[in-house]
Amino acid sequence: MDIFKKCLGGYQPAQKVRAAGLYPYFIPLTNNEGTESSIGDRNLIMIGSNNYLGLTMHPQVRQAAIDAINTYGPSCSGSRFLNGTLELHLELERQLASWVGKEAALVFSTGYQVNVGTIPAIVGRNDYVITDKDDHASIVDGCKLSYGKMKRFIHNDMASLEHVLASLPEEVGKLVVVDGIFSMGGDIAPLPEIIPLCKQYGARLMVDDAHSLGILGGGRGTAAHFDMTDDVDLIMGTFSKSFASLGGFIAGDADVLDYIQHTARSLIFSASIPPANAAAALASLEVMRKEPERIARLNEIGAFMRRRYRALGFDIGATETPIIPILIRDDIKTLQTWKALFEAGVYTNPVLSPAVPPDRTLLRTSYIATHTAAQLEKVLAIMEQVGQELGII
Ligand SMILES: Cc1ncc(COP(=O)(O)O)c(C=O)c1O
Repeated sequence: MDIFKKCLGGYQPAQKVRAAGLYPYFIPLTNNEGTESSIGDRNLIMIGSNNYLGLTMHPQVRQAAIDAINTYGPSCSGSRFLNGTLELHLELERQLASWVGKEAALVFSTGYQVNVGTIPAIVGRNDYVITDKDDHASIVDGCKLSYGKMKRFIHNDMASLEHVLASLPEEVGKLVVVDGIFSMGGDIAPLPEIIPLCKQYGARLMVDDAHSLGILGGGRGTAAHFDMTDDVDLIMGTFSKSFASLGGFIAGDADVLDYIQHTARSLIFSASIPPANAAAALASLEVMRKEPERIARLNEIGAFMRRRYRALGFDIGATETPIIPILIRDDIKTLQTWKALFEAGVYTNPVLSPAVPPDRTLLRTSYIATHTAAQLEKVLAIMEQVGQELGII
């Protein structure tokens, strides 16, 4: 049997949506400058970006990337393990560790690589990794790559977490991994309830703060938000969102980080984060320290939009952050709504099954500290009109 047989005629679900004129993916942006983007001559208000603090536009961040290219060139041409570490990487690690309140940090080339490297490094053959059912795909992939066993609990359901923990043998190693802010729902992992359970059952805790850095805890993440930094063993972050760059890191105790540094395959067998990306992340961190008003403004915008969407009658689930899902709960209707908004000048991201269960399909919207009041009002007016036309509200 030809292994390419399944590819004949392309990827069938995508072909079907293309034929219906509703295909929303891989559309090239001609301009991606913060709160407004364009596609050809169509201008759109961007509420589909993870550039939460608007730092891709910040002159200091841009200049830092340019200067790093001029100093070090576009690539390190090697792994962190060998020739691919610069003093710049070490400085970034020191600054990140201090920002999240941990002894040490280790920078990888993407956030995805942090999770697929760290989890298998820590979770060995006789160990268990316990994850929330809504955890990010990179956590799931990290679990699959580990030699340990994976158990999942119902999203943010503490009885379910306890049930899983209580079912495991006492003498095995256990790592619980949760998103700090859940990437699709915008809701927060209840660390004040998770931490006591981890302690009771002898489990270590890793929090994926990809979306929480720059938003929660004055920008320092979920553990800082709950004032529980010492009780979270590993904090993971990525530069592809608030940090206006590309790359990621894990932070924790120095001994644990030393172990990960020598055993995480996605760190060792892949080239290091390019100098421009490391420098942009470092500059973004400096801006977060110097301009806390950006973080405050982002959270104000989040609260404002949540209030207004709920008042209009949209179902936005349990979000508590500037990541606001518009739950539509039907694949085709989600695509129709995406298209109507797109044509009216609003960029959103449709999230369909199987990425989410079919009754939880949604448009993911997220906001930027630099969105203006006029842009937000325009988004709300268009949302209201489209929502009414399509019978969503
Ligand atoms: C929760 C979460 N973890 C990890 C990642 C991976 O990050 P990166 O884009 O840096 O690979 C993402 C990115 O979408 C994410 O949302």
